[in-house]
Amino acid sequence: MTEPLLDIHLTDDDLAAALRADARTGLTADPKSLPPKWFYDARGSELFERITELPEYYPTRTERALLERVVGEIAEAARAEVLVELGSGSAAKTRLLLNALTAEGSLKTYVPQDVSASALRGAATEIAAEYPHLAVHGVVSDFTDTLHNLPRGGRRMIAFLGGTIGNLVPAERAEFLAGITEVLEPGELLLLGAGLVIDPAVLVPAYDDAAGVTAEFNRNVLHVLNHRLGADFTPEKFEHIALWDPTNEWIEMRLRATTAMTATIPALDLTVDFAPGEEMRTEISAKFHPDTLRTELTTAGFTPTHTWTDPANRFALFLAERR
Ligand code: AVJ
Repeated sequence: MTEPLLDIHLTDDDLAAALRADARTGLTADPKSLPPKWFYDARGSELFERITELPEYYPTRTERALLERVVGEIAEAARAEVLVELGSGSAAKTRLLLNALTAEGSLKTYVPQDVSASALRGAATEIAAEYPHLAVHGVVSDFTDTLHNLPRGGRRMIAFLGGTIGNLVPAERAEFLAGITEVLEPGELLLLGAGLVIDPAVLVPAYDDAAGVTAEFNRNVLHVLNHRLGADFTPEKFEHIALWDPTNEWIEMRLRATTAMTATIPALDLTVDFAPGEEMRTEISAKFHPDTLRTELTTAGFTPTHTWTDPANRFALFLAERR
């Protein structure tokens, strides 16, 4: 087996500095907010894995079933030589794509990208062992600003699955998609997975499950601030809120202070007060109409060529070609 290559464009120091900057900005803003990327330490990633298995959380299994059904068509349309997977980590979906592109006879290189060097090293080593014909070239980076670090050579398809595009507000989304077109050559591809606008009676429980796993996932961002910045939040004193914003068409997750509290964050030399009932936004998860997302892709410099949806119209996969 060939050892997987790992390019590190983001060190633990970079991550720590980014967390400090985000925490300071978000906790001193009015209203307060924290970006969702900080949910995912080891405990948060484990909680997210448990979310994907909840009866209420349909996105992961819906996307996987859809991908299973259409991955042959994707591979045939794409004929990609390089598969770049942004925020890799969904091993099952990765293997579906690798198998189909291998069967198509086009694939030579797999480039998993993630912010976590340890997660990436593990995944890259496993894939390299299982697919000895592939060159595996992992990239540790932040997908929103280090796209230019992706290896070139061969027709590339960037896969951004899971519906994580929904974490970006419209302006960030436009910038992100334009950033991808900028690094791609004409004819290269984007495979995008996105949750669709559906009945809030189905949508909201997916983000507010009966077992309380999402609540614990939401509060985990406070555990992360406690561990990484020495803060003294009492996570149990924050209540999990998930609501559907029909104007923006996104799920918004918040943490609501159940009582007046003061948190100190030594690494920031900062003290933060919470009023009783004060709400802090921790995530948006936007849902889409296929035609508006195709318009956004077109605006960013892509030609959307294929759209696939599951039978219940809850999730879609888009294949788009850089113009
Ligand atoms: C990993 C961003 C796709 O938005 O559905 C799951 C994260 N948050 N439950 C999503 C999440 C609450 C998830 N993404």
